Amino acid sequence: MRQRRAVLANGNALRLGLFGANCSSGRTYATLPERWHASWENNLRLAQLADEIGIECMVPIARWKGYGGESNPNGSSFESIAWACGLLAATRRLQVFCTVHVPLHHPLVAAKQMATGDHIGQGRLGVNIVCGWNEDEFQMFGVSKKEHDARYAQGEEWWSIVTKIWAGEARFDYDGTYYRLHGVEGAPRPFGDGNPLMMNAGSSDTGRWFAIRHSDMHFDAVETPEASAERIAETKRLARERGRDIQVWTPVGIICRPTPKEADDYLEYIVDRADWGAIGYLADMHAKEGRPRTDPQRLVHSAHNPLARRALARGSYCVIGDPDAVVREFSRLRSAGLDGLAINFVDYLGELPYFSAEVLPRLEKVGLRTKS
Ligand SMILES: Cc1cc2nc3c(=O)[nH]c(=O)nc-3n(C[C@H](O)[C@H](O)[C@H](O)COP(=O)(O)O)c2cc1C
Repeated sequence: MRQRRAVLANGNALRLGLFGANCSSGRTYATLPERWHASWENNLRLAQLADEIGIECMVPIARWKGYGGESNPNGSSFESIAWACGLLAATRRLQVFCTVHVPLHHPLVAAKQMATGDHIGQGRLGVNIVCGWNEDEFQMFGVSKKEHDARYAQGEEWWSIVTKIWAGEARFDYDGTYYRLHGVEGAPRPFGDGNPLMMNAGSSDTGRWFAIRHSDMHFDAVETPEASAERIAETKRLARERGRDIQVWTPVGIICRPTPKEADDYLEYIVDRADWGAIGYLADMHAKEGRPRTDPQRLVHSAHNPLARRALARGSYCVIGDPDAVVREFSRLRSAGLDGLAINFVDYLGELPYFSAEVLPRLEKVGLRTKS
């Protein structure tokens, strides 16, 4: 049965994905003994649990190198197209994304790999296009990093080549700025009709416009839900004016415990073990990209402190509390116009069962989700 658009159209007002489980430590930068061990066995068990409880999708991080420090977050990571193929073969309805770096994957190779994955999943593959930002990764590949907006210009050529191949029309030549290709063809096309869902997480103007023009989903950064509402509405409006529908999602770090105190205590425990070496390295990389650098300093134990956010969820919005508080926060995010949240836990497998037992039924009660 075709599932291609289940993530977008399954009737849930607030969709949920799991973000970052293909990488060691996931999204958490702390030296916790229980930090995520991204083994295949753990990923498989997680995907099958997500499938069973009706989580819509899994979104991997494309990382080629760890972030150093004591725990070296993401130092071990499964390559995301191969990872997606394995999980798609072992699940029934979960949408599994791959995350593909435009400058590191030739579009002809990527188009065929993704079409293969889409057949394995019978239309359940999705693609997150990333244009790259991490200087160290570019250097490791011997590829020089292009100026910011040129990376997205290359991304547009890349995506138009991939979709032209997937359209399955006649052999074609491509004469662009970044690609000059002759006699291009590639079969099979993706499974059934239509292309895999495509998301993009560019937060700059250029990155966001890439999403408005081309993506089914835009992953945007959220400072507070209320402060983001206007931008989210505008993204959707700008896409609609171009005849397209787009969903807006954001990543969210979760600590959910039976009482608010237990959740706060766990945040404090994480913050006390923040991996400053890795956080500092990431800050340096962001500074090279012209993004604000947050200097290591004593963390304040609050979900809203930017440094606490960094230790738990690499700078994303965080939701910390008992199940009722989590539902209140999710309602707030939905009211801001968000269609979906890509969540992470410190220990995905250890924490998802509690989330499933306590939070999902409450989300059903308030009408944000229906029983799976
Ligand atoms: C949800 C999400 C997932 C992302 N995944 C990756 C990734 O796997 N690999 C990567 O190099 N960058 C990743 N990024 C970074 C974005 O692709 C983008 O470069 C970043 O948000 C900065 O935006 P800009 O490129 O428009 O300046 C991700 C960002 C977000 C918010």
